[in-house]
Amino acid sequence: MNLIKLSAIDSTNTYLKKLAKETQLPDETVVITKHQVSGRGQMGNMWLSREGQSLTFSMFKIFERFPIEDQFMVSMATSLGILDALKALNTPAVSIKWPNDILSAKSKIGGILIENLLEGSFLKYCVIGIGFNVNETVFPNLPNASSLKLETGKDFTLEEVLQEILEKVFKRLTNLNQSNFLRLKEEYENSLFQKGAISVFETPEGLRCNGIIKGVSDIGELLVETESNPLRKFQLKEVKMIY
Ligand code: BTN
Repeated sequence: MNLIKLSAIDSTNTYLKKLAKETQLPDETVVITKHQVSGRGQMGNMWLSREGQSLTFSMFKIFERFPIEDQFMVSMATSLGILDALKALNTPAVSIKWPNDILSAKSKIGGILIENLLEGSFLKYCVIGIGFNVNETVFPNLPNASSLKLETGKDFTLEEVLQEILEKVFKRLTNLNQSNFLRLKEEYENSLFQKGAISVFETPEGLRCNGIIKGVSDIGELLVETESNPLRKFQLKEVKMIY
């Protein structure tokens, strides 16, 4: 593994993407910073973190002839790899809130932003950005946010959590193979927050409906049973779970 440590940067994803474009970057390069000043989250949101209390890093993974239609596997493997790490650290009630928020009980302790480079019909490489709340205890205006410290009652060093996540996520990514698709999807679905329970969903227009999460489609859409539709498919920007 090739670890690049930066004291401060706008975004580790942006930095790593530029590096990958301009140089021959070795597989499994990791960029980590103590202070990320313009962290990017999913759907154009910002990712805020307090210097020295949380992890903000990006992982670079090269793929060989990996079909783009299977790219959701990378997202599932990353989320499950983080869950593997959290279980090894005895974190209670870990789950994945679709598509890849990492929860302990009902609170988000980590987020993932994956940016793929496609070449023809193949995935060439991925930049996988991870923001993970380790020792933070205050989250102003973020009622669903928490940290490893708040959920476990213990302090962790950033280094030990980083090592655990890198090991488990790279292991999952190295073993990615189309023949494992169904097994991976089943494991991912079984780790989904609120699977099989009634939840409230909200569309971007503000319409709310009740539904039960059944699983995900092969390309990562959320499959929800609603009153009007036994298997409605939602894409990322189409729905938000209220919890
Ligand atoms: C989310 O919205 O839940 C995803 C958050 C991802 C944040 C991480 S922090 C390291 C990397 N660099 C970024 O700018 N974003 C990701």
